[in-house]
Amino acid sequence: MNVLKEKGIPIDKQIRTWHDIVKRPYNRMEVDNYTRTRQILMNGIETEAWTFKHCFVRKSDDMELNKLLVRTRRIEDMQQTTVNWLTPWNQTVLDTTLGYEQVAVDLTAWLAQNEPDKYVKETFDFGLLEDFDHLYRYSQFAYMVEETDPNEILHKMTDVVIGRPTQYHHNCNALRIRKPYDKEKTAPQTKVNILTLISGEQQTHNYYAEHGFMYGNNDLKRLYAEICDVEEEHVTMYETLVDPNETMFEKWLLHEFTEVCNYYNCYEDEVDERLKLIWEEMMQMEIGHLQAAAEMFKKYEKRDPEEVIGTELVLPCRFMSQKKYVAKVLKDEVGKRVIEDGEYAFVDELDEDWASYKVQEKVNEDGAPSEKAVYLSIKSIGRDIACADDSLLEMQSELLEDSLEEEYQAPNTVSAEKYEEITEIPPLDFLNY
Ligand SMILES: [Fe+2]
Ligand SMILES: [Fe+2]
Ligand SMILES: [Fe+2]
Ligand SMILES: [Fe+2]
Repeated sequence: MNVLKEKGIPIDKQIRTWHDIVKRPYNRMEVDNYTRTRQILMNGIETEAWTFKHCFVRKSDDMELNKLLVRTRRIEDMQQTTVNWLTPWNQTVLDTTLGYEQVAVDLTAWLAQNEPDKYVKETFDFGLLEDFDHLYRYSQFAYMVEETDPNEILHKMTDVVIGRPTQYHHNCNALRIRKPYDKEKTAPQTKVNILTLISGEQQTHNYYAEHGFMYGNNDLKRLYAEICDVEEEHVTMYETLVDPNETMFEKWLLHEFTEVCNYYNCYEDEVDERLKLIWEEMMQMEIGHLQAAAEMFKKYEKRDPEEVIGTELVLPCRFMSQKKYVAKVLKDEVGKRVIEDGEYAFVDELDEDWASYKVQEKVNEDGAPSEKAVYLSIKSIGRDIACADDSLLEMQSELLEDSLEEEYQAPNTVSAEKYEEITEIPPLDFLNY
């Protein structure tokens, strides 16, 4: 469908009542796990739309333009409230956290497989293995602190095992800077894929920054601090893929187009009839925003919006189980690292003076919270919390060996030998039901 030809809801019909804005939340126990991931992602998409329009207005002295930006920005804000507040009050911070990392894993895997640009795909695969490890680390605490079986949230759609260990996600942030695409040569799909992921990662960062302190357990708080910082690196990594020469009008078009595509994808896939209607209404609003952005683009840049967004919708968030794909990337790329000039290298190719060693040595000086999570789990239940097929569970020590750095390991690193030892112990029964 060519979305520029659709009607949508006109902007002056988009103000809603407080009753409409605040809707009944989903049920924590009954909700489909991918309904939850859609809701988490769309909250991030709305926050990015709102943030972008603030940046735009701060740089603009054009009253006609600013009036339109602030009017639609308020709608983005109201949409964000509606979407985020579908979260039930009794969904704990750790429950939601497992949902966030499930978004990161299954969304990134989907995008990587539907990404026409090879370099962008490589970057997605790289980030994928880090969020995959976050899910594993948080799962230890979800069980220890709240007795949560991770599959109550994940519904067995996403595996929980070691990925690229989190202690190695701390880089010199300058090394995270990637090579930008060329806006003239890049498909709208790539642009939408990247913007979708930036929004998700930024929201994840903000969620950890604003909720990590809500537990009275220092080890868990430090884990939130540690992973929050990695999400900052992820935002850096993905946002630097974007061509810095894109104009603000191009960016505006792409933001609205990304919102339309994501809501359309949510609408198509949604299994909850009530939420399906919400996604549809939101999509109709976004079509209204897109048309306004397209008019401004024509007026100020004297170009055809189709040059930027094309004529077809893309599907940037088809949530489905990605276990096979993730396992493959895990086996091939767990030992990868970021290096200068937007390149990648494997651990055994790193120079002694690789800039990230210094950062890792400092932040992990007193031990890495992500290692402590597994250590505490082993002390508490005899092994780690891990849920996957036996073949993958048995690979944990091997994966760890492939990704350990000879130059540097946190002083409290759980060793590959320890993983071999704990693999002998069967996973908790409830994780196998
Ligand atoms: Fe929006
Ligand atoms: Fe993450
Ligand atoms: Fe992330
Ligand atoms: Fe919008």
